[in-house]
Amino acid sequence: MKIDQLDLRTEELVSLSLRTLYKRHGYELFRMSKFEKYEYYAGNKDFLVSDRVITFYDTNGDLLALKPDVTLSIIKNYSGSGQEKQKLFYHENVYRPDLSSGQFREIQQTGLECIGPLTGEDLSETVMLAAESLQEIHPGYQIHFSHLGLLTDLLDQLTADESVKRTAIRLISRRSLHDLRVLLQESEASEEIQNVLFSLMELSCPIGELPERLNAVSADAFFRNEAGSRAIREMKEIAGRFLNSDLSTHMIFDFSVINDLHYYNGIIFQGIIPGLPDAILAGGEYDRLLQRMGKKGRAVGFAVYLSLMEKLQNAETADDTEEEFLNIALPKGRLGEKVYELLASAGYSGEKTQENDRRLVFENRKAGVRYFWVKPSDVTIYVERGAADIGIAGKDILLENNPELFELLDLKIGVCRMAVAGPKGFVDDRERVLRVATKYPRIAKDYFAGRSRDIDIIKLNGSIELAPILGLSDVIVDIVETGKTLADNDLQVLKTVCPISARLVANPTSYRFQKTMIQAVTDQLEKLLTDQI
Ligand code: PRP
Repeated sequence: MKIDQLDLRTEELVSLSLRTLYKRHGYELFRMSKFEKYEYYAGNKDFLVSDRVITFYDTNGDLLALKPDVTLSIIKNYSGSGQEKQKLFYHENVYRPDLSSGQFREIQQTGLECIGPLTGEDLSETVMLAAESLQEIHPGYQIHFSHLGLLTDLLDQLTADESVKRTAIRLISRRSLHDLRVLLQESEASEEIQNVLFSLMELSCPIGELPERLNAVSADAFFRNEAGSRAIREMKEIAGRFLNSDLSTHMIFDFSVINDLHYYNGIIFQGIIPGLPDAILAGGEYDRLLQRMGKKGRAVGFAVYLSLMEKLQNAETADDTEEEFLNIALPKGRLGEKVYELLASAGYSGEKTQENDRRLVFENRKAGVRYFWVKPSDVTIYVERGAADIGIAGKDILLENNPELFELLDLKIGVCRMAVAGPKGFVDDRERVLRVATKYPRIAKDYFAGRSRDIDIIKLNGSIELAPILGLSDVIVDIVETGKTLADNDLQVLKTVCPISARLVANPTSYRFQKTMIQAVTDQLEKLLTDQI
């Protein structure tokens, strides 16, 4: 029977093509058991997407885990000499919890790993195969790539403490340029570092143009240490390999692509396709993981998440009759109204709505925008899942939910602060666990953990100020705007945690595919806000 008569699903057909592609390039199939000893994952928890793993005891009393990852098992099997080169591909199911719902899912992964005494040629081949894999899935794919050697070198040259560096990494990955600027200025980073960093953040070009663009940033002169100069060399080498290839226009340099520096050290990339909010391919060089597991050599690889293709088919069916809109989630209420007024005056008004119109969706076909009114705390969910391309969310929600979104603009409206507040005259007794009532458990936890203060969090949904009055808590962590609610309830600010304002956020994939439109909206908003001041 021929393959096309087998009634296979699209992802199964793609998986067959990928396996054929990898075999053709000399990769061998790696087969593995569905489980590994749990202790193996326990020692490498932070490499995993989540530290939650499904475990069970076998008849010998060994604690086993349904495997959440393939790379770790492949490394475990590698001799570790660093002398022999292993080129392996796999097609396996892994078991991971969905980060928003917490439910475990069986995820199909097809991918490859190349381990050993690798050369630039091996790195280029891996990136090339990632591009060819995506071409099998969708002709409109893009690979966004960077090299972590650049980031390592930059951070080495930044004379700041580790927490500043960690924050800088997070802000780079969120494209939060405004907060990054503030952070670097506060930590007195040199002008040279700031210039190079912001030039790299703004640099977005196909791989063919990269060598010339890096020269324009004076990257060769700036990246002087081993990690940085190797990064420049390797990216130029990969660019050379892509020269004259049709694939090169799909490869975009993007400094916001980052992964954990404890494991990854070299070229790093993410593959996206139109219609899917999440990356369908992720990969990079992870020599540090190899070293952490006591093995020598270099390692590079990628995984393709074919299960996501199911979502793509649903999206294609749903979108068949629809035009291309930029979908914007507005928070219901005064803040959303204000941002909408700004957008409308910039030429992005929706159709006229009548008084008392309760419609939640309205649009302007000519301007190509569609608005949704959503509950303020839900904006990030709509944008993260790609139901909206951009949205307006408070920094409080962003800090609390930590969604993987780009933060494009500080709108400087809805300005207030996050604070610890308590009864007037409150004195903290460090002998006791501090009881903290809040709507923001993550912000409260991070704040007090940073001060090594043991706390007991009481999560409430509103009227937080009542908690210390009724003795339910010692203090609260909450938003303070005018301070009137605190004053009227005999409470006062004890410490300011951080300033808060509304932010323009974007789904990273939407931003990458609709950059011109989203950047135009961002620039218009920024201009109007500056003119207002
Ligand atoms: C927020 C916040 C404070 C109040 C602060 O409450 O939780 O209670 O505003 O504002 P002020 O400093 O200007 O007095 P919100 O109105 O969102 O209601 P909630 O109590 O339901 O959270």
